[in-house]
Amino acid sequence: MTTLHAPVRPGFEPAFGHRARLPPVRPQADPDTDAHRGASPESPAVRVEGLTKRFGRTSRPVWSDVSFSVPTGQRVAIIGGNGTGKSTLLRCCLRLIEPDAGDIHLHGQKLDGRCARTLRHLRSEVGFVFQKHNLVPRLSVLSNVLHGSMARTRGPRQWLQSLARSEDRDYAMYCLEQVRLGHLAERRADHLSGGQSQRVAVARALMQRPRAIFADEPVASLDPQAGEEVMETFADLARNHGLTLVFVSHHLEHALTYAERVLGLRDGRLDLDAPTGRETLGSLRSLYD
Ligand SMILES: Nc1ncnc2c1ncn2[C@@H]1O[C@H](COP(=O)(O)OP(=O)(O)O)[C@@H](O)[C@H]1O
Ligand SMILES: [Mg+2]
Repeated sequence: MTTLHAPVRPGFEPAFGHRARLPPVRPQADPDTDAHRGASPESPAVRVEGLTKRFGRTSRPVWSDVSFSVPTGQRVAIIGGNGTGKSTLLRCCLRLIEPDAGDIHLHGQKLDGRCARTLRHLRSEVGFVFQKHNLVPRLSVLSNVLHGSMARTRGPRQWLQSLARSEDRDYAMYCLEQVRLGHLAERRADHLSGGQSQRVAVARALMQRPRAIFADEPVASLDPQAGEEVMETFADLARNHGLTLVFVSHHLEHALTYAERVLGLRDGRLDLDAPTGRETLGSLRSLYD
């Protein structure tokens, strides 16, 4: 197993071909922040305790007293009916939405009370993939992948492949190879299929050298075949690079196939937290009754 923090190697790796030979490199702490102080390799990727969220002071909480811990490298599916707060939970884990109560730790670091810069640094260790891929249509696939590096560094060199530093361009190509789309690097993003576009969005998330990937219904707008390919890509990345994967899904089959653990929201609380091996389609469906 290796990590995506590996330095760029000369030449491009064929997809998944030689990854075992890439040296594992831990993410580097930002020397100007205290983001990694106190973090240990055993820290869970995500730990939330007593999380509660309501929109509006008088409204009912979307959910309350939600607690769970996701060990590094685990693949977790979040399921539940429409409006049960799956997307809100995923965003609260990064404090992209502010919870009303509770603690959040990412990779051993508490997110509360952090300055904007440290918070940005801690968030940059999680690649977020949305239902809509939001690629820039007129730019090449490689330029779109490069945009992922803006999570860590901002500047015109991150906008276009032609302006990028060669090591960034090489790393973007490496990320593209990891989603098996190296051959499409020069293609315009608006000439891709839906499934290819989403895999480019995954490569863009890899470009920020994340330790974890969060995905909110990443295959909801794809046909079944493309959806399977995208989910397989996620699961392969998690297994082969030790990335933690937390994804929201309405496909219960995907939860059972690609996750090791399932979290289910119902009636304003975390109603299910179980290994997928213990669950069946029928048992998961009961969450929607
Ligand atoms: N910004 C917001 N302002 C007010 N209500 C919101 C906002 N975002 C989400 N909600 C409400 O919170 C509930 C949970 O939403 P969401 O997390 O999107 O659910 P899910 O992803 O499970 O479908 C819904 O009732 C939704 O209408
Ligand atoms: Mg949602």
